[in-house]
Amino acid sequence: MTEVIHMSGVTVRRGRTLLIDSIDWVVHENQRWVVLGPNGAGKSTLVQVAATHLHPTQGVVTILDEFLGLTDVFELRPRIGLVGAGLAAAIPAREPVRDAVVTASWGVTGRWREEYDAMDWARADRLLEQWGMSELADRTFATLSEGERKRTQIARALMSDPELLLLDEPTAGLDLGGREDVLARMAEMADDPGAPTTVMVTHHVEEIPRGTTHALLIRQGRLVAAGPVESTLTDDNLTQTYELPVHIDRHEGRWSARAAR
Ligand SMILES: Nc1ncnc2c1ncn2[C@@H]1O[C@H](COP(=O)(O)OP(=O)(O)OP(=O)(O)O)[C@@H](O)[C@H]1O
Ligand SMILES: [Mg+2]
Repeated sequence: MTEVIHMSGVTVRRGRTLLIDSIDWVVHENQRWVVLGPNGAGKSTLVQVAATHLHPTQGVVTILDEFLGLTDVFELRPRIGLVGAGLAAAIPAREPVRDAVVTASWGVTGRWREEYDAMDWARADRLLEQWGMSELADRTFATLSEGERKRTQIARALMSDPELLLLDEPTAGLDLGGREDVLARMAEMADDPGAPTTVMVTHHVEEIPRGTTHALLIRQGRLVAAGPVESTLTDDNLTQTYELPVHIDRHEGRWSARAAR
């Protein structure tokens, strides 16, 4: 099985703070990971390293068989789709939704003089359809609801047909309907054998989509546990991650957690 992410002893230090500390993590092709941990645990830092946007202070990282530090990240980045906090801010407010998606094929966030061919537009339209945005394709990005923005960003992240898709809190700020819609579309994507390997960060086990295969738990920059979901999402591991007695349940492929009494 091909390794999509391989981190070995990965540390990111800023001043005296260790954002992540000696992380060992291997993601194989076709796995779908969820990353959980409290605020400030280092989840986004981990995603930024995997996205090649952040260089570790220590340790070795290979992404899609390319060594970070030895490879041209500009060639590697189109093979990685990223939905993170920074992206929504980078999309110009008056950019139509369809343009906000198609511009990803040039790796830019606003349309200017680039040319797109019929295949690019066809792919953008297919992704907008897949993420329930066809009817809003001509609307400007600024007028979208939070849920519509998230779905546009996911469609955009898939535009370059990436081998790795990184989603940092794709369901944050969504209402119940919006959250369930994104999770259902992610579960649908998980059923597609051509779909990219996925890593999704979330705060809530209720937001883990069906089809998730693996989980990584992180606390204060250190790995608590990583492995197949069933054996990783346990009361003990979550209790250790959140430093709070937690009880977790699984029902019909979805998870729920509460403080244990
Ligand atoms: N440039 C920096 N200098 C010092 N500390 C930093 C810097 N950037 C981030 N941090 C700290 O690193 C820690 C990890 O941040 P990170 O954003 O990875 O956490 P997170 O798990 O994504 O949190 P959240 O759930 O709140 O999004 C935080 O405590 C943050 O304050
Ligand atoms: Mg974060």
